[in-house]
Amino acid sequence: MNDLEPLTDRQRRELEYHREHAKQRSALLDKPVNFNIALNNNRRWWNAHWAMYTYLRNKDIKGKNVLVVGCGFGDDALYLAKYGAHVKAFDLSPESLAIARTLAEKENLAIEFKEMPAEKLEYENNYFDFVVARDILHHVDIPKSINEILRVSKPGAIFCFNEVYSHSITNRIRYSDFVDKWLYPKMVNFVYGGNKPYITEDERKLSEQDIKIITASMAKPEIEKYFNLFIGRLISDNYLFLVKLDRLLLYLLSPVAKFLGARILIAGPLNKTAQTSEILETPTSPT
Ligand SMILES: C[S@@+](CC[C@H](N)C(=O)[O-])C[C@H]1O[C@@H](n2cnc3c(N)ncnc32)[C@H](O)[C@@H]1O
Repeated sequence: MNDLEPLTDRQRRELEYHREHAKQRSALLDKPVNFNIALNNNRRWWNAHWAMYTYLRNKDIKGKNVLVVGCGFGDDALYLAKYGAHVKAFDLSPESLAIARTLAEKENLAIEFKEMPAEKLEYENNYFDFVVARDILHHVDIPKSINEILRVSKPGAIFCFNEVYSHSITNRIRYSDFVDKWLYPKMVNFVYGGNKPYITEDERKLSEQDIKIITASMAKPEIEKYFNLFIGRLISDNYLFLVKLDRLLLYLLSPVAKFLGARILIAGPLNKTAQTSEILETPTSPT
């Protein structure tokens, strides 16, 4: 980590939360890593994570320089390295990185893991062919992180992100008194399948305004897909039939899916000539 720049309050809170989170996940080290998502040709069209890999596999990612943003326990770094990419990955939490490093060693995968914040990367300019961000942009300062992603990417590099999302209209319903004070407390146990919700103090689902800022760094995205109409909101993802039905419904509702989905997958080439000053000055959604 760059000792010269102290962490912001938000980064420090995220770090503390994830240090504790990592301590409870050491069991990850006992299980073999399942590489199906990257290697299996039978694809799970209903699953956003799998859809991201379907896109990346079609992009000839083997042998390319790939950056995994906020890699946590290293899942995506491991899968992409196994698929044949040259992977570098970073995160704020040394405990999460320790798990990721051990798994990579066990699997004999050469991945460079580093501890740093997304808002200030230590990588050189114009290095990466691909940048992959999953469930991380909603934890960070978006304009600063996007600006850094643009800087370290080669011209025409592919950016792929897969994040929790809520259109401001849907969000207003979610935080109405009826849902927030009455419905949500009754549903929360069921929706999270009895697990404690994994939500940090500062994380915010991406809004359409955040998506605008992120996609301002890109040429026209090649894919924009929405997932989770009811899944994760009213129903847990334990019921495969309902998960498939949910994805099918959102597919049929494509013209209005951006108002309804709770997860977004967008991918396409970055535009190095994007006006970084504009990205930095655009206000993100209120926190
Ligand atoms: C929800 S987890 C996602 C981890 C991983 N991308 C995945 O999908 O498994 C969020 C991760 O972001 C990291 N994080 C939070 N704020 C960060 C920041 N400003 N810079 C880098 N990593 C950050 C946390 O330590 C945590 O590992």
